[in-house]
Amino acid sequence: MTDDTPPGSFHPPVRTLMGPGPSDIHPRVLAALSRPTIGHLDPAFVAMMDEVKGLLQYALQTRNPLTLPVSAPGSAGMEACFVNLVEPGDKVIVCQNGVFGGRMKENVERCGATPIMVVDDWGKPVDPQKVDDALRANPDAVALAFVHAETSTGACSDVKTLCDLGRQYDCLTIVDAVTSLGGVELRVDAWGVDAIYSGTQKCLSCVPGLSPVSFSERAAARIAARSTRVQSWFLDMNLVMGYWGSGGKRAYHHTAPINPLYALHEALVMLREEGLEAAWARHRLHHRALAAGLQAMGMRFLVAEEHRLPQLNSVYIPAGVDDARLRTTLLEDYNLEIGAGLGDFAGKVWRIGLMGHASRKQNVLQCLAALEAVIAAQGGEINTGVAVAAARGVYEQQVMQG
Ligand SMILES: Cc1ncc(COP(=O)(O)O)c(C=O)c1O
Repeated sequence: MTDDTPPGSFHPPVRTLMGPGPSDIHPRVLAALSRPTIGHLDPAFVAMMDEVKGLLQYALQTRNPLTLPVSAPGSAGMEACFVNLVEPGDKVIVCQNGVFGGRMKENVERCGATPIMVVDDWGKPVDPQKVDDALRANPDAVALAFVHAETSTGACSDVKTLCDLGRQYDCLTIVDAVTSLGGVELRVDAWGVDAIYSGTQKCLSCVPGLSPVSFSERAAARIAARSTRVQSWFLDMNLVMGYWGSGGKRAYHHTAPINPLYALHEALVMLREEGLEAAWARHRLHHRALAAGLQAMGMRFLVAEEHRLPQLNSVYIPAGVDDARLRTTLLEDYNLEIGAGLGDFAGKVWRIGLMGHASRKQNVLQCLAALEAVIAAQGGEINTGVAVAAARGVYEQQVMQG
């Protein structure tokens, strides 16, 4: 060590987060995070845990008793679903239309099971016909896994139709709702989802690091009837429930992330206050305004309109623009973060998030104004002077219909 000046406190810059997540966190949620830490078996904390479970049941539209936040990010929720429901030698149908289906495949393999892949192009939703064909060809498959909201592209798949198919073939369904929860319609019980996991850092606008999960009775029965022990001690739902279970008895399993759970509680209280359907409508409105502005500039979407996620807008980068330079300028000059493309779309698309608290008029207008200024300054081929007006037009129309 040559420099013996000790580091000082870390003060992050104040950004506007309009990438693929994490999203802007509401000040109420940040304030909740800084409340005094209490013991994880303190009666006051245990009472709050029960509220978190109830609020999650509301957010997921389920009565599943086995509904709780796993103490780790969305990837751990994914792993919790697979390690609890899949045993060595099983067959699982895995749909892949972007990055995250690939991770599901890997989870299945690491469980000692065989993934049967149903592949769709990036930017397209999962094709129910292909899933039907795969289920028919593999009657011994125990589960069907797919991503509701593919964050790598912004495509939304039809959960209800896919779960209907799963049930028709007596297959459990495992659904990735990391980017969908709170942003688009999602009804766990009505749509017959068996296992679902999400994240806190997207449309819930909470801090990253927690993963809400929920298991249907059918899924819980499968876990109880396993012939092998769940290979992960930390994610074994039988053990986790000893801490999260109701009925007053709580046994130490791990030290819960107490303050992040205050934050989740607050984020879910806010969702309840707003109302789920109002939150879905808000995401749609701001997406329509953003899309109007981007299209007025002449930009094209990656995903067809009927399959687009309002909270994740993938648009082709206009000709003449240097992707990395533009995103750096947005960050440095406007404190605005948008996301880069992934995989084959790296350098070809941007992913503009409108998730949770970030899904608001001020962000839409600032993002359009900043994008237009920086693209134009870099000599990109866009129409100028029209984007903000097009977005405002959507808001004015909304007020008139209102
Ligand atoms: C669809 C999807 N699944 C899973 C994950 C993994 O979540 P985390 O990064 O919180 O582990 C993400 C994260 O972006 C995601 O978008």
